[in-house]
Amino acid sequence: MTQPKPRLRSQDWFDNPDHADLTALYLERFMNYGITPDELRSGRPIIGIAQSGSDLAPCNRGHLANESRVRDGIRDAGGIPIAFPTHPIFENCRRPTAALDRNLAYLGLVEIMNGYPLDGVVLTTGCDKTTPSALMAASTVDIPAIVLSGGPMLDGWHNGERVGSGTVIWRARRKLAAGEMTRDEFLDEALDSAPSAGHCNTMGTALTMNAMAEALGMSLPGCATIPAPYRERGQIAYRTGMRIVEMVRADLCPSDIMTKAAFLNAVNTCAALGGSTNAQPHLNAMALHAGLSLTAADWSAAYDIPLLANVQPSGDYLGESFHRAGGVASIMRELLDNKRLNGECLTVSGEKISIQLARAAAPDGDVIRSYSQPLKDRAGFLVLSGNLFDFAIMKTSVISDEFSERYLSDPERPGVFEARAIVFESSDDYLTRINDPALNIDAHCILVIRGAGPIGWPGSAEVVNMQPPDHLLKSGITSLPTLGDGRQSGTADSPSILNASPESVAGGGLSLLRTGDTIRIDIKNGTCNAVVDDEELRQRSAGGVEVPEANTPWERLYRENVTQLEYGGILKGAPSFRATKNRLPRHN
Ligand code: FES
Ligand code: MG
Repeated sequence: MTQPKPRLRSQDWFDNPDHADLTALYLERFMNYGITPDELRSGRPIIGIAQSGSDLAPCNRGHLANESRVRDGIRDAGGIPIAFPTHPIFENCRRPTAALDRNLAYLGLVEIMNGYPLDGVVLTTGCDKTTPSALMAASTVDIPAIVLSGGPMLDGWHNGERVGSGTVIWRARRKLAAGEMTRDEFLDEALDSAPSAGHCNTMGTALTMNAMAEALGMSLPGCATIPAPYRERGQIAYRTGMRIVEMVRADLCPSDIMTKAAFLNAVNTCAALGGSTNAQPHLNAMALHAGLSLTAADWSAAYDIPLLANVQPSGDYLGESFHRAGGVASIMRELLDNKRLNGECLTVSGEKISIQLARAAAPDGDVIRSYSQPLKDRAGFLVLSGNLFDFAIMKTSVISDEFSERYLSDPERPGVFEARAIVFESSDDYLTRINDPALNIDAHCILVIRGAGPIGWPGSAEVVNMQPPDHLLKSGITSLPTLGDGRQSGTADSPSILNASPESVAGGGLSLLRTGDTIRIDIKNGTCNAVVDDEELRQRSAGGVEVPEANTPWERLYRENVTQLEYGGILKGAPSFRATKNRLPRHN
């Protein structure tokens, strides 16, 4: 005897014998664009396509074209596609920071996925926060979900050299300040880094987070890196559409895939990629929404993972070359072969990740290095704590030889350095005063910024990678140590101390720091302390605690409810709303 087919979520709306009146109401308006009642009542899975592309979200705009291939795949597999827009998130353009939008897009997606007749969803992702917002929502609602990345732009070229999005700005602005470049040349070089549709082509936050979706098992193999304009992008869109229908039939849900082991795989993969420092708050946020947690110890355990991806800002190449060399799967294969990955984790394909990775390309030794001959020995984030904060991270894969030579090679105390703090209260304060001769900034200073965290900014700003004053740049000192309670762009090549939690406005120790204090950083022991007497620190009045007025209702709500970056900057209490499987909202 054949088993009766399990009832679909959408049938509670469209095919509910107990509520003939409501069923009519739920159905009728879908007719007005040509869908037939028979389709919606045929027991075929109804698949949402969360469309994140728009004119206002140019990094994701390629999804407007990908959508038709997703629809084809859904139809060919026997499902019915229903597309809907998500809140736009455009990292480079959104003021005061796109970080505000991650939780807002998350809220919107949760309400849509929970409140409408969807049996599964294709989550289109690309620009930085579009990926974590989508996966956070997938965990909260826990209906079958699959990520379709939009893919990076093609590699950018300028005067015969690769120029990567974001990274080119940080590098060129140093040349501009040193007087080695004109403003027009600056603009030309920057524009050449964006040669096609797609998201950032460096291993910035966008490529890192799409790689994290693949590493977690939430997208089909290869999905993270196929450049947006390649024909394979349309092809994987089609296969993603087909696959989500099968996932609904198999009831394969985010909670089956995003396990603690999968998150640890993602953390290790992030290290080997030289991934964005924003992966830390985003993965922590995603883990919390999945009912799990990533701790400082989990991040520290990945510190010794070697750098395998030779991609800017830690290396030389860009996303297109990285894809051609084998992409995320090749990196993960090396980790698996060297026992730094759990091969048992399930993916959206329904296979264990070890089975998938057996098909991945071996490292080419150039763009993708082998575990035994890496680009650098330790590429994980260094986790720091001390009297200025409980938690902060430092991206060590971008430490230049010049920087190591200057700060980390004292034969008496290797890996330990002291620097004189120059404290800025905001990015405006930094811009106004960085070239002020009265600050007497030299190579033994550390630039500190506060008021840039989730509450202070609000949203937490990418401002910590402050560049040295012009006179130092002209003398060849291209970076100083920096520290702050904000973030930095994933495309930045600065070994800054970031994401300091708690932030200054939340009573963090950074608020007690003064210009002229000595800060001691011990890389080996993971400490960062102001060399100031405890008693004196306690008696100081706090600085950096001014909070600019909220401009919008959301800014205020965000501030009132956001957690610190150590805990992902999520909305307090949101993880408690994890849906028990198959819970349906009450009728309309
Ligand atoms: Fe959108 Fe980098 S600005 S991906
Ligand atoms: Mg950014």
